[in-house]
Amino acid sequence: MRPAIAIIGGTCLATLDTLKITHRETLSTPYGEPSSPLIYGEFGERNVVFLARHGQHHTLPPHRINYRANLWILHHIGVKQVIATAAVGGIRTGMEPGTFAFPDQIIDYTWGRHSTFFEDNLTHVTHIDFTEPYCPELRKRLIQGARDLGMTARESCTYAATQGPRLETAAEIRRLEKDGCDIVGMTGMPEASLARELGLHYAACAVVANWAAGKGAGAITMTEIERNLASGMEQVKKLLARVIPALETS
Ligand code: HPA
Repeated sequence: MRPAIAIIGGTCLATLDTLKITHRETLSTPYGEPSSPLIYGEFGERNVVFLARHGQHHTLPPHRINYRANLWILHHIGVKQVIATAAVGGIRTGMEPGTFAFPDQIIDYTWGRHSTFFEDNLTHVTHIDFTEPYCPELRKRLIQGARDLGMTARESCTYAATQGPRLETAAEIRRLEKDGCDIVGMTGMPEASLARELGLHYAACAVVANWAAGKGAGAITMTEIERNLASGMEQVKKLLARVIPALETS
Protein backbone atom coordinates (compact mmCIF):
# COMPACT_ATOMS: atom_id res chain seq x y z
CA MET A 1 0.00 0.00 0.00
CA ARG A 2 1.30 3.44 -0.94
CA PRO A 3 1.17 5.85 2.00
CA ALA A 4 -0.98 8.98 1.84
CA ILE A 5 0.79 10.56 4.82
CA ALA A 6 4.39 11.74 4.98
CA ILE A 7 6.49 13.01 7.83
CA ILE A 8 9.45 15.22 7.03
CA GLY A 9 11.81 14.92 9.98
CA GLY A 10 13.88 17.96 10.89
CA THR A 11 16.86 18.46 13.21
CA CYS A 12 16.98 15.76 15.89
CA LEU A 13 14.32 13.73 14.11
CA ALA A 14 16.41 11.86 11.53
CA THR A 15 14.78 8.59 12.52
CA LEU A 16 11.40 7.75 13.91
CA ASP A 17 11.65 4.83 16.28
CA THR A 18 7.90 4.80 16.90
CA LEU A 19 7.30 3.92 13.24
CA LYS A 20 6.92 0.21 12.50
CA ILE A 21 9.22 0.15 9.47
CA THR A 22 8.21 -2.12 6.61
CA HIS A 23 10.75 -1.19 3.93
CA ARG A 24 13.01 1.49 2.49
CA GLU A 25 13.36 2.87 -1.01
CA THR A 26 16.06 5.05 -2.57
CA LEU A 27 14.61 7.01 -5.47
CA SER A 28 15.74 9.78 -7.77
CA THR A 29 13.68 12.58 -9.30
CA PRO A 30 13.88 14.91 -12.32
CA TYR A 31 15.18 17.46 -9.77
CA GLY A 32 17.93 15.26 -8.35
CA GLU A 33 18.25 13.22 -5.18
CA PRO A 34 15.91 13.63 -2.20
CA SER A 35 17.57 14.21 1.17
CA SER A 36 17.26 10.59 2.28
CA PRO A 37 15.82 7.22 1.33
CA LEU A 38 12.10 6.91 1.88
CA ILE A 39 11.33 4.92 5.00
CA TYR A 40 7.94 3.25 4.81
CA GLY A 41 6.11 2.05 7.85
CA GLU A 42 2.95 1.97 9.90
CA PHE A 43 1.61 4.22 12.60
CA GLY A 44 -1.36 2.37 14.02
CA GLU A 45 -3.48 1.49 10.98
CA ARG A 46 -1.92 4.16 8.80
CA ASN A 47 0.76 3.69 6.17
CA VAL A 48 3.29 6.45 6.52
CA VAL A 49 6.47 7.46 4.75
CA PHE A 50 9.30 9.24 6.53
CA LEU A 51 11.94 11.45 4.95
CA ALA A 52 14.88 12.93 6.87
CA ARG A 53 15.17 16.53 5.66
CA HIS A 54 18.84 16.96 6.57
CA GLY A 55 19.78 13.47 5.41
CA GLN A 56 20.00 10.22 7.32
CA HIS A 57 23.13 11.36 9.13
CA HIS A 58 22.19 15.03 9.41
CA THR A 59 24.77 16.26 6.90
CA LEU A 60 22.71 18.60 4.69
CA PRO A 61 22.60 22.25 5.77
CA PRO A 62 19.32 24.12 5.17
CA HIS A 63 20.46 25.95 2.01
CA ARG A 64 21.71 22.69 0.43
CA ILE A 65 18.53 20.69 0.92
CA ASN A 66 16.94 19.65 -2.35
CA TYR A 67 13.45 20.81 -1.40
CA ARG A 68 12.09 20.22 -4.90
CA ALA A 69 13.26 16.60 -4.97
CA ASN A 70 11.87 15.98 -1.48
CA LEU A 71 8.40 17.30 -2.25
CA TRP A 72 8.31 15.90 -5.77
CA ILE A 73 9.08 12.35 -4.64
CA LEU A 74 6.44 12.44 -1.91
CA HIS A 75 3.84 13.62 -4.40
CA HIS A 76 5.01 11.06 -6.96
CA ILE A 77 4.47 8.10 -4.61
CA GLY A 78 0.93 9.28 -3.83
CA VAL A 79 1.31 11.25 -0.61
CA LYS A 80 -1.54 13.69 0.08
CA GLN A 81 -0.71 15.05 3.55
CA VAL A 82 2.67 16.16 4.83
CA ILE A 83 3.55 16.87 8.45
CA ALA A 84 6.83 18.73 8.65
CA THR A 85 8.72 18.80 11.92
CA ALA A 86 11.18 21.60 12.56
CA ALA A 87 13.46 23.12 15.15
CA VAL A 88 13.10 26.87 15.56
CA GLY A 89 14.32 29.77 17.64
CA GLY A 90 11.80 31.59 19.82
CA ILE A 91 11.48 35.33 19.17
CA ARG A 92 8.47 36.56 21.10
CA THR A 93 7.56 36.31 24.80
CA GLY A 94 5.98 32.95 25.45
CA MET A 95 8.14 31.23 22.86
CA GLU A 96 10.59 29.76 25.35
CA PRO A 97 12.61 26.63 24.56
CA GLY A 98 10.51 23.50 24.65
CA THR A 99 7.35 25.22 23.40
CA PHE A 100 5.45 23.67 20.52
CA ALA A 101 4.37 25.98 17.73
CA PHE A 102 1.99 25.37 14.86
CA PRO A 103 2.62 28.27 12.49
CA ASP A 104 -0.22 29.62 10.40
CA GLN A 105 1.84 32.23 8.55
CA ILE A 106 5.33 32.46 7.15
CA ILE A 107 7.64 35.17 5.86
CA ASP A 108 10.35 34.08 3.45
CA TYR A 109 13.78 35.67 3.94
CA THR A 110 15.67 32.93 2.08
CA TRP A 111 17.44 33.52 -1.21
CA GLY A 112 19.06 31.55 -4.01
CA ARG A 113 17.07 28.36 -3.38
CA HIS A 114 15.22 26.52 -6.15
CA SER A 115 11.80 27.59 -5.02
CA THR A 116 9.32 26.60 -7.72
CA PHE A 117 8.28 23.79 -10.04
CA PHE A 118 6.70 26.38 -12.34
CA GLU A 119 9.62 27.79 -14.29
CA ASP A 120 10.53 25.56 -17.25
CA ASN A 121 8.51 24.32 -20.24
CA LEU A 122 5.44 26.25 -19.18
CA THR A 123 2.41 26.58 -21.39
CA HIS A 124 1.35 29.52 -19.23
CA VAL A 125 2.69 31.34 -16.18
CA THR A 126 1.28 29.91 -12.94
CA HIS A 127 0.82 31.69 -9.62
CA ILE A 128 -0.40 29.62 -6.69
CA ASP A 129 -2.56 31.14 -3.97
CA PHE A 130 -0.52 31.20 -0.77
CA THR A 131 -2.68 33.41 1.44
CA GLU A 132 -2.86 30.59 3.98
CA PRO A 133 0.48 28.80 3.60
CA TYR A 134 -0.40 25.86 5.85
CA CYS A 135 -3.33 23.45 5.55
CA PRO A 136 -5.95 24.60 8.09
CA GLU A 137 -7.45 21.11 8.49
CA LEU A 138 -4.13 19.41 9.17
CA ARG A 139 -3.15 22.22 11.56
CA LYS A 140 -6.43 21.69 13.41
CA ARG A 141 -5.63 18.01 13.86
CA LEU A 142 -2.15 18.75 15.21
CA ILE A 143 -3.43 21.44 17.55
CA GLN A 144 -6.19 19.19 18.88
CA GLY A 145 -3.66 16.39 19.39
CA ALA A 146 -1.38 18.71 21.34
CA ARG A 147 -4.31 19.87 23.49
CA ASP A 148 -5.35 16.28 24.17
CA LEU A 149 -1.82 15.49 25.33
CA GLY A 150 -1.66 18.59 27.53
CA MET A 151 1.29 20.06 25.64
CA THR A 152 2.20 23.74 25.85
CA ALA A 153 1.64 24.94 22.32
CA ARG A 154 1.28 28.18 20.37
CA GLU A 155 -1.59 27.60 18.03
CA SER A 156 -1.14 30.61 15.79
CA CYS A 157 2.18 32.17 14.95
CA THR A 158 4.34 33.47 12.14
CA TYR A 159 7.47 31.62 11.07
CA ALA A 160 10.42 33.55 9.68
CA ALA A 161 12.36 31.43 7.19
CA THR A 162 15.98 32.58 7.17
CA GLN A 163 18.81 31.48 4.94
CA GLY A 164 21.31 30.08 7.42
CA PRO A 165 23.31 28.10 8.05
CA ARG A 166 24.53 30.73 10.47
CA LEU A 167 22.17 31.87 13.17
CA GLU A 168 20.86 35.44 13.05
CA THR A 169 22.26 38.60 14.56
CA ALA A 170 20.36 40.26 17.40
CA ALA A 171 19.45 43.12 15.05
CA GLU A 172 18.09 40.71 12.47
CA ILE A 173 15.89 39.13 15.13
CA ARG A 174 14.63 42.59 16.20
CA ARG A 175 13.73 43.22 12.58
CA LEU A 176 11.91 39.88 12.29
CA GLU A 177 9.99 40.71 15.44
CA LYS A 178 8.98 44.08 13.99
CA ASP A 179 7.86 42.25 10.85
CA GLY A 180 5.49 40.20 13.02
CA CYS A 181 7.45 36.96 13.29
CA ASP A 182 7.20 34.77 16.39
CA ILE A 183 9.62 31.97 15.54
CA VAL A 184 12.60 31.61 13.24
CA GLY A 185 13.92 28.61 11.34
CA MET A 186 15.87 27.88 8.18
CA THR A 187 13.87 25.20 6.37
CA GLY A 188 10.26 26.38 6.22
CA MET A 189 10.71 27.79 2.73
CA PRO A 190 10.52 26.84 -0.05
CA GLU A 191 9.23 23.60 1.48
CA ALA A 192 5.77 25.01 2.24
CA SER A 193 5.24 26.69 -1.14
CA LEU A 194 6.53 23.71 -3.13
CA ALA A 195 4.05 21.53 -1.25
CA ARG A 196 1.28 23.94 -2.23
CA GLU A 197 2.41 23.95 -5.88
CA LEU A 198 1.92 20.18 -5.88
CA GLY A 199 -1.45 20.39 -4.13
CA LEU A 200 -0.17 18.65 -0.98
CA HIS A 201 -1.79 19.35 2.38
CA TYR A 202 1.13 20.60 4.44
CA ALA A 203 1.43 21.66 8.07
CA ALA A 204 4.38 22.23 10.35
CA CYS A 205 4.99 21.18 13.89
CA ALA A 206 7.83 23.28 15.28
CA VAL A 207 9.69 22.87 18.55
CA VAL A 208 11.46 25.87 20.03
CA ALA A 209 15.07 24.82 20.55
CA ASN A 210 16.54 28.09 21.83
CA TRP A 211 15.80 31.74 22.37
CA ALA A 212 16.57 33.55 19.09
CA ALA A 213 19.67 35.77 18.97
CA GLY A 214 19.57 38.57 21.53
CA LYS A 215 16.46 37.18 23.25
CA GLY A 216 18.19 34.89 25.73
CA ALA A 217 21.27 35.19 27.90
CA GLY A 218 24.47 35.09 25.85
CA ALA A 219 25.43 33.06 22.82
CA ILE A 220 23.38 30.24 21.35
CA THR A 221 25.14 26.89 21.51
CA MET A 222 24.51 23.67 19.64
CA THR A 223 24.60 21.90 23.01
CA GLU A 224 21.65 23.99 24.20
CA ILE A 225 19.76 23.40 20.94
CA GLU A 226 20.34 19.66 21.02
CA ARG A 227 19.42 19.36 24.68
CA ASN A 228 16.11 21.14 24.21
CA LEU A 229 15.34 19.23 21.06
CA ALA A 230 16.05 15.84 22.58
CA SER A 231 13.07 16.20 24.91
CA GLY A 232 11.03 18.24 22.38
CA MET A 233 11.31 15.59 19.69
CA GLU A 234 10.17 12.87 22.11
CA GLN A 235 7.01 14.95 22.50
CA VAL A 236 6.71 15.28 18.72
CA LYS A 237 6.77 11.50 18.43
CA LYS A 238 3.95 11.25 20.96
CA LEU A 239 1.98 13.85 19.05
CA LEU A 240 2.46 12.05 15.73
CA ALA A 241 1.44 8.75 17.30
CA ARG A 242 -1.77 10.38 18.51
CA VAL A 243 -2.67 12.41 15.41
CA ILE A 244 -1.72 10.18 12.49
CA PRO A 245 -3.86 7.12 13.20
CA ALA A 246 -6.93 9.38 13.15
CA LEU A 247 -6.16 11.13 9.84
CA GLU A 248 -8.31 10.38 6.82
CA THR A 249 -6.25 9.03 3.97
CA SER A 250 -8.48 9.58 0.96
N1 HPA B 1 17.41 30.60 14.11
C1 HPA B 1 17.19 29.96 12.95
N2 HPA B 1 16.96 28.65 12.88
C2 HPA B 1 16.92 27.95 14.03
C3 HPA B 1 17.15 28.56 15.27
C4 HPA B 1 17.40 29.97 15.31
O1 HPA B 1 17.60 30.57 16.38
N3 HPA B 1 17.08 27.59 16.22
C5 HPA B 1 16.80 26.42 15.57
N4 HPA B 1 16.72 26.64 14.24
